[in-house]
Amino acid sequence: MKADELRLKFLEFFKNRGHAVVPSSPLVPDDPSVLLTTAGMQQFKPYYTGDADPMKDFGAKNTASVQKCFRASDIDEVGDASHLTFFEMLGNFSFGGYFKEDAIRWAHQFVTKELGLKIDYVTVFGGTDTAGQAIPSDTESERLWKEMDPALDVHVRGMDENFWGPTGKEGPCGPTTEIYVGGVEIWNIVFNEFFYHGTREELLAGAAGKTLKPLKTPGVDTGAGFERIAVAVQKKEHVFQTDLFASVTALLPRDLEERARRIIADHLRASAFLLADGVRPSNKEAGYVLRRILRRALAFEHMHEMPAGIFEDILTAVIRQYGGFYPELERERDAMLDAYRVERERFAHTLSAGIKELNRQGGTIDAKGGFHLYESYGLPYEVIREVGGERARGLTRDAFDAEFKKHQDKSREGAEKKFGGHGLILDTGELKAATEEEVKKVTRLHTATHLLQSALRKILDPDVRQMGSDITYMRTRFDFSFARKLTPEELKRVEDEVNDIIRADHPVTMKEMDYEDAVASGALYFFREKYPKRVKVYTVGTDDVFFSREFCGGPHVSRTGEIGEFRIKKEEAVASGVRRIRAVVEP
Ligand code: SER
Repeated sequence: MKADELRLKFLEFFKNRGHAVVPSSPLVPDDPSVLLTTAGMQQFKPYYTGDADPMKDFGAKNTASVQKCFRASDIDEVGDASHLTFFEMLGNFSFGGYFKEDAIRWAHQFVTKELGLKIDYVTVFGGTDTAGQAIPSDTESERLWKEMDPALDVHVRGMDENFWGPTGKEGPCGPTTEIYVGGVEIWNIVFNEFFYHGTREELLAGAAGKTLKPLKTPGVDTGAGFERIAVAVQKKEHVFQTDLFASVTALLPRDLEERARRIIADHLRASAFLLADGVRPSNKEAGYVLRRILRRALAFEHMHEMPAGIFEDILTAVIRQYGGFYPELERERDAMLDAYRVERERFAHTLSAGIKELNRQGGTIDAKGGFHLYESYGLPYEVIREVGGERARGLTRDAFDAEFKKHQDKSREGAEKKFGGHGLILDTGELKAATEEEVKKVTRLHTATHLLQSALRKILDPDVRQMGSDITYMRTRFDFSFARKLTPEELKRVEDEVNDIIRADHPVTMKEMDYEDAVASGALYFFREKYPKRVKVYTVGTDDVFFSREFCGGPHVSRTGEIGEFRIKKEEAVASGVRRIRAVVEP
């Protein structure tokens, strides 16, 4: 069975059992406290807590998805037979629909009947009284497995292994039951029964004053490792032998050592998915993760003197292979390849100089020397480890990261001194920015927000009204009056409308005028705001033909072309009759 068929088979199976099929959410989650999406349940968090209604959003209490995931914590491990940074997770979820019995029965049926795999054994949660409170053992799951197959081995395990979550600062959590095939866990069902106001570490340590609260509607969260299942179904030894990587590895030189081959394959595949979700190489957050993996791959290209253009062929092969299921890859093809070329070019300038400097330093490379190589020559930790060989053996990620952090703290201190100890240098209530760089980004997002409002009025309804907005350098959040969920087509049209105005590079001008004149000029104003007698009005376009005109204190870009690419990340309800759009500008 080809991997492509496997995805569809999974979705079809659960669709036939009352699940709404939901597309993967982007790798960059909407939740700013989490860097990248690491599990299928992340996009469904609010449905477990009752903060969102699955019937309203999906027309069902159960959903199924194939989720793109990225785990940066595994970067150092890539190169062996199993670790990956990017992977896909199959998931079926329930928010008050079904619980243990159906979840276990369907898992058993899908794995043994649909895929024809033999289960080695399963695990269930054995309970604990050491985590500051007693959690009973999951005897129900144990019984259900035994009923399903009396010959099945059921292993009972503790908190560390069979109790999942919470992710991030707090969240749903609960006991899990896992299926093992071919010696590895391929299927993990979490029975979300609790909510914990704290991190997983605090939960395991039994932190004082923090307790598990029962969730109003217990739920099911299944994560099945797609690559691992593909290995089992295709009867391979490891993931790099499956058809998921065949098109990539086929393009690499034959004599390349296996470890380098796997790292390049993983890192370029992961880079393609990050690029398609709008991540661009940078020194911060998701952009920094992308830079690290891309540059590590490029360091191999350089060291092995690979033919020029080979990586572009690989990226194109990834787009071709995965673009059918993940249309964003095809859609973003040109922008992705452009961004890749820019990064390659940028790195090419410093890589040779960096290697020269590394050789000049002599002796072993410590954290300080390592960070200097990063700061001055753009060599990330991974690259120093690869290029430095023996001499970099003693350099640990922890030491490097500590040096990195020291540097970041120093530049933050510098910024604070400059701006009188106030963490933010721009805070209008609507716009917030802490550094000059952030101010630039926020300004672009601000003008984009005006264009968004006018596009919504043009495409949805001229009565759409602003209900609130909040802009940080990461994104704009715009609330507006509208009765229902927007269709994907509408969102696309709104996005296109904004990008059309951006591309036409219209001027943005400001005029101060009397309040009444401003209203008469057709400028939009925010009904919650109290305005003075003289107001500022920002116009995009000319006095005769304008695309947006609003009461506003600024700041704005001076031409729309400066905004960059506008991209809607999410549309959701915030209250009855009020919708919220989150959007970003790139690069
Ligand atoms: N959230 C669980 C996991 O990531 C099951 O989906 O494994």
